[in-house]
Amino acid sequence: MNRFTAKAPARANIIGEHTDYATNQGHVLPTPLPFHTTVTVQETDGTAGHLTILSENYGNQPHDRKADDEPRHHWTDYVVGCVRVMSKTVKLPALEFRIKSDVPIGSGISSSAALCVAAVRALRGLTGAELNDEQIALMAHEAEHDYVGVPCGKMDQFVASLGRPGQALLLNTRAMTYRHYPLPPNTAIMLVNCGKKHDLAKGGGYKQRVAECAEARKLLGVSTLCELGHKDLGRLSTLPDVIRRRARHVITENLRVLEFVTALEEGDTERQADLIAASHVSQRDDFEVSIPEIDALVESSKRFGIRAARIVGGGFGGSIIALVPRDQAVAWWSFIAKENPESQLISTYALKNSENEYAA
Ligand code: GLA
Repeated sequence: MNRFTAKAPARANIIGEHTDYATNQGHVLPTPLPFHTTVTVQETDGTAGHLTILSENYGNQPHDRKADDEPRHHWTDYVVGCVRVMSKTVKLPALEFRIKSDVPIGSGISSSAALCVAAVRALRGLTGAELNDEQIALMAHEAEHDYVGVPCGKMDQFVASLGRPGQALLLNTRAMTYRHYPLPPNTAIMLVNCGKKHDLAKGGGYKQRVAECAEARKLLGVSTLCELGHKDLGRLSTLPDVIRRRARHVITENLRVLEFVTALEEGDTERQADLIAASHVSQRDDFEVSIPEIDALVESSKRFGIRAARIVGGGFGGSIIALVPRDQAVAWWSFIAKENPESQLISTYALKNSENEYAA
């Protein structure tokens, strides 16, 4: 019986948070992380459409699902969604999926996109369907967005599918064009979980932000918020307070991504730190997706002397990302851990002259 195994990574977003919604279509700058989800798909004897799904992380207990099931608000929905999307392209037999993953769940590093991209890749391998990595990303997005019902943008699936270890992916979510950039040299990318999980599929906050951006777009009469720039910020004064602040975050965050890329090219670490710090303030005060535990981590980082720290991912919990000079990374984490005993270091990978240490 045919069988195929594929994997996909988690991600951290360097900068460009909440800019990728369909209403916003701005830029993002994520990078893949050295955590992966692996999916093995195997053809089985049952009736076509019958699915058995097991995950090592959930005790390898088999879950029986059908390709035409309605979503059940269960983790297996992600796999069912991928099967449904794939079956628009190829005819699928009965299948068994075996999943293993070292991606921490609920930390804001996109365990769901890693699962969906790995599942669609495994199905591509099993069926021999001719799909490129962009199509894989779009299919994984369709599974999560349309079937599971998470109103997410396309950043996570694109970086899981197209990202290169040790590089950032500058993605324009309007044109769907992208470019790879080396990460800042001699910099450790530190990710610290605040101890409170987030779940985009369940959490109402993210959905509400998506609705607020739609409202801003409607009131401003534009097709996407990120077509607006600095010179348009005055136009926001006509909007109700909350909607004005949401739009201001999205527009300024999109501009910060582009400025960050320039600072990256120029090796201007001070400017990079300013932009990351400003991203946090904007997410805390204008977009209101931070929580006190996350703000406390960012403040600790500042007290240590590192301004380049901010909330990462969908918000309402999860993690911070901080760009820390390699030779200060250990001391930085000891300081943060002491001030925030609930926090956990979930990833650090340090880059030496753009050479990636984990990508062996
Ligand atoms: C989640 C979503 C992404 C993006 C981020 C916030 O990770 O899946 O599409 O919107 O939140 O930047």
